[in-house]
Amino acid sequence: MRILLLGSGGREHALAWKISQSPKCEKLYIAPGNAGTASVGENINIKVNDFEGIKMLVLRNRIQMVVVGPEDPLVNGIYDFFKSDAELREIPVIGPSKAGAMLEGSKDFAKGFMQRHGIPTAAYRTFTAATVEEGFSFLESLQPPYVLKADGLCAGKGVLILPTLEEAKKELKEMLGGMFGGASSRVVIEEFLDGIECSVFVLTDGKSYKILPEAKDYKRIGEGDTGLNTGGMGSVSPVPFADKEWMQKVEDRIIRPTVEGLKEEGLDYKGFIFFGLINAKTMVDGQWSMEPKVIEYNVRMGDPETETVMLRLKSDLVDLLEGVATGTLSERKVEFDERAAVCIMLVSGGYPGSYEKGFEITGVDDVWGSIVFHAGTAMKDGQLVTNGGRVIAVSSYGKDKEEALQKSFANAKLIAFEGKNFRRDIGADL
Ligand code: AMP
Ligand code: GLY
Repeated sequence: MRILLLGSGGREHALAWKISQSPKCEKLYIAPGNAGTASVGENINIKVNDFEGIKMLVLRNRIQMVVVGPEDPLVNGIYDFFKSDAELREIPVIGPSKAGAMLEGSKDFAKGFMQRHGIPTAAYRTFTAATVEEGFSFLESLQPPYVLKADGLCAGKGVLILPTLEEAKKELKEMLGGMFGGASSRVVIEEFLDGIECSVFVLTDGKSYKILPEAKDYKRIGEGDTGLNTGGMGSVSPVPFADKEWMQKVEDRIIRPTVEGLKEEGLDYKGFIFFGLINAKTMVDGQWSMEPKVIEYNVRMGDPETETVMLRLKSDLVDLLEGVATGTLSERKVEFDERAAVCIMLVSGGYPGSYEKGFEITGVDDVWGSIVFHAGTAMKDGQLVTNGGRVIAVSSYGKDKEEALQKSFANAKLIAFEGKNFRRDIGADL
């Protein structure tokens, strides 16, 4: 099969690495890709939202399947673009329709969807500039800290968690006043949930689903989960508390109702669903217990979770994607690798604030016993250089998490570039 993968991050390098191992993959293109994806396929310099450019590429190279890495083109309707074009209609796009992508594209839609289908999540209400006073009253009825979420996509920056009522009111006013442009013209205010997060992934063909390995992501820049939010500083799979019993609850209360809900609401969805879950301290029948609840949906794989999930997926990914495309996913098998996998993200100095690009990267060829996934890298005059905030993910297998971490940390030290930073406590909390 001739496959096109859209995107350019560490997630896409990990997907490309896995896809290229499949005997069913005849040729893999990545658009636009990065310096790492060029080692497992052919990069084509077309942007993920350039649908006309992608169409030309697909027809010219006789592409038979398009796999969408990031959310942007999905929320912008790439699936619908293919379905409504006579020349592209028969070519499967792995990812939901524009309507299905609302699960990520609109927090208000996602919350309403969960409410309609009885899926456990934080209590919430949505406000606009016209109802800001009601928003203030709602905040007064909640306990601190306060969680405010811009309705639309904000490149991961649209969620604010405020310690005081005063700050929450001030930020609500600013968000509704255009802090994130149109994306915050509606703001979801929700109850704060206390617990440990876990990312659960499934593939669905719109009828059935397959659960992939779960992972935990480390979002803050600083050790001990301090400082600003980032795209993700590392990941670990498996997650110890996501045992058989907990995953059964997740499947019964969250995954199955979500797939059924998509079907009931006529939302065309053939792709990955990423459940951002929290194991939340919840009062059940007068007693505290830890129960899975949904923090957010994403309509794609996670980054840096993919850099461990793909290591732990033993089955042929292209076979599974073929099942998604042809509505035969229920006939396919998903097997997990029994080993642990971890990923350490090397980032640019200053990230997630401002940082410089173009620094020479050395030591990648010295890495031994780990897998290097490129995120923000580029080739400049034959030299590998930094080209983003998150630069390189160092992923490893181990008989357990500790062994995998040892390998990743040893190799993380071998790779050098000016300003390099990484968290030394990935996996330490588990
Ligand atoms: P989101 O963009 O929805 O994933 O939110 C970003 C991060 O904010 C999440 O990964 C959580 O760490 C945190 N968060 C979001 N909603 C809540 C909530 N209701 N309670 C506690 N933490 C939250
Ligand atoms: N790692 C979180 C995300 O991909 O959104």
